[in-house]
Amino acid sequence: MTFERIGVVGLGIMGAGIVEVFAKAGLQVIGVAESESAVEQGKKNLATSLDRAVSREKITQVQADEISSRVTWGTDFELFAECDLVVEAAPEIIGLKQQIFSELDRVVKPEGILASNTSSLSVTAIAQSTDRPEQVVGMHFFNPAPVQKFVEVISTEKSHADIVAAVTELARSIGKSPATVGDKPGFIVNKLLLTYLNHAVRLLDEGVASRETIDSAMREIAKFPMGPLELLDLIGLDTSVEVLHTIFADTQDPLDAPASSLTTLIADGHKGRKTGAGFYDYSNKHEAPTSADDDLKIQVHETLMKAYLHTARQMNDSGYASKSDIDMGMKLGCGLPEGPFETMSHFVA
Ligand code: CAA
Repeated sequence: MTFERIGVVGLGIMGAGIVEVFAKAGLQVIGVAESESAVEQGKKNLATSLDRAVSREKITQVQADEISSRVTWGTDFELFAECDLVVEAAPEIIGLKQQIFSELDRVVKPEGILASNTSSLSVTAIAQSTDRPEQVVGMHFFNPAPVQKFVEVISTEKSHADIVAAVTELARSIGKSPATVGDKPGFIVNKLLLTYLNHAVRLLDEGVASRETIDSAMREIAKFPMGPLELLDLIGLDTSVEVLHTIFADTQDPLDAPASSLTTLIADGHKGRKTGAGFYDYSNKHEAPTSADDDLKIQVHETLMKAYLHTARQMNDSGYASKSDIDMGMKLGCGLPEGPFETMSHFVA
């Protein structure tokens, strides 16, 4: 199987990031969104990311122009006809994704592979809307897609082993570190990550600590690149809630139900960075949160870390994923300095 032409549906930050990853790797990319304005936003997202890379001297302006020239944009799914692979990065709405896959099934050449970048939905349910479920997989990138190296390749009961192997190899060939995973709620990283992030919101809701104390505790003591509330804003509160609904539907554990400020903020239109506000306001440059309450930071870190390590252990014990895949996922998907099983070797509460 060779991959020369890749399609991407949905050009938000994640979709545009996926366009960038493939175009940087030298592949021809077709980016499609539902409207001209969404396409313009996708172009802008790619340009901003490439400008950042040029200003940091990661690539030259000539290389940035070459990358951009590999991308064709449009609103018409027919553009995907000759694609070897199409990756869907639309909002987390099952009906919408099924509609997209049914349309992709109609227009993409018969041997083309269809992949969903879903964070939370059942790839099996998405594949059911096509007549080629054996050629449907999940290809789950992490935010920001050009930065995070981890990719989950999700196989369903119907996915053909050769297709899963080919997509895994493709991920490797574009510089990512893939892990294959079954179609389980939250896959590997989101199951652990969102359970931890939701726990942090509960501490905030219960008045245990301020948002700054919670975030600075995990940045400063755990050395995580971002605090949990800032990270929720980056992921998007709506996407985060969808992942939690999926996890909760599986576990029925009240602690996995979305914590109340998540739903309140969304109801007020605050979905995180993409709407300009979430737990924080992004109308000005966001600075790393600080707090002088050292004792409380220690307490918050202990509480969150203990529960996070417990979830990781449970995931491994129940056969969700291997210790090494969980460690790799958290390091290469979320930029953590070490994986939970590495942390366990020295964490003392
Ligand atoms: N696009 C492209 N590149 C970006 C970027 C973006 N949006 N944001 C940052 N970068 C690059 C920068 O260019 C820089 O690259 P170099 O080191 O090569 O120069 C690097 O990332 C670091 O950037 P900064 O110095 O500006 O900022 P930082 O050090 O604070 O890092 C961060 C920013 C990469 C976002 C870091 O804070 C991080 O890794 N945070 C954790 C993010 C995370 O957990 N993501 C996974 C969320 S879960 C998910 O996405 C899946 C899901 O389904 C919900």
